[in-house]
Amino acid sequence: MTHCGDGGNLATSYLWREEVRPEDVEVVWKLVTATGFFSDQERDVAVELVEEYLRRGPASGYRFLFAELDGRPVGYVCYGPIPCTVGSFDLYWIVVDPRQQRRGLGRRLLEHAEQRIKRAGGRHVYVETSGRAQYAPTRAFYERCGYSVAAALADFYYPGDPKIVYRKVLSQGVSCSDVAALPEHPGTATRGL
Ligand SMILES: CC(C)(COP(=O)(O)OP(=O)(O)OC[C@H]1O[C@@H](n2cnc3c(N)ncnc32)[C@H](O)[C@@H]1OP(=O)(O)O)[C@@H](O)C(=O)NCCC(=O)NCCS
Repeated sequence: MTHCGDGGNLATSYLWREEVRPEDVEVVWKLVTATGFFSDQERDVAVELVEEYLRRGPASGYRFLFAELDGRPVGYVCYGPIPCTVGSFDLYWIVVDPRQQRRGLGRRLLEHAEQRIKRAGGRHVYVETSGRAQYAPTRAFYERCGYSVAAALADFYYPGDPKIVYRKVLSQGVSCSDVAALPEHPGTATRGL
């Protein structure tokens, strides 16, 4: 079983928030921009997922979890069930404020998402990233958190830039009845892990 604990950040008490608020459009825009990691097009896609959730709620297929520190969002993860599958989930985005990186928050966000996915009957978590050098830290992060390469699609993004599909197999089984919509807890926020 893969260790996905608290990293070196045991003392930090984050507030975990699943509720998505209108101001999260700007929150996500700022977090994604602050990484300096994503293209404008990628950033627009990240924001669109929030807007889609605000329009359609859970029917959007997206789930969010924000980590707040002293009232300020410092990271988030977005994931959701993959349509027409039983128990397969996509991890769409995970971002940590650069000032908070390498302190275990990314791991904790991922662990929280995996716990929620398991509770919803999920078996597999998939995440896609690029194989180019810029994404080596991202790949290292997934690998350190127990994700393995399930597929590599050569020249996917452009010639010489493959898509790498990572997968993590979650430890519990699943029954079809478990795979209804994820439970939604609007307004819930919990502190600590
Ligand atoms: C990827 C990201 C979410 C990681 O968040 P983080 O809070 O810095 O990660 P953590 O501190 O929880 O690290 C978890 C593990 O990954 C490893 N890791 C994290 N960043 C790493 C890096 N840049 N290089 C190598 N390993 C790294 C850590 O060493 C740690 O492993 P260990 O505990 O076994 O030592 C964050 O760097 C980020 O937001 N990056 C930009 C956006 C991005 O790439 N998102 C993913 C695609 S959507």
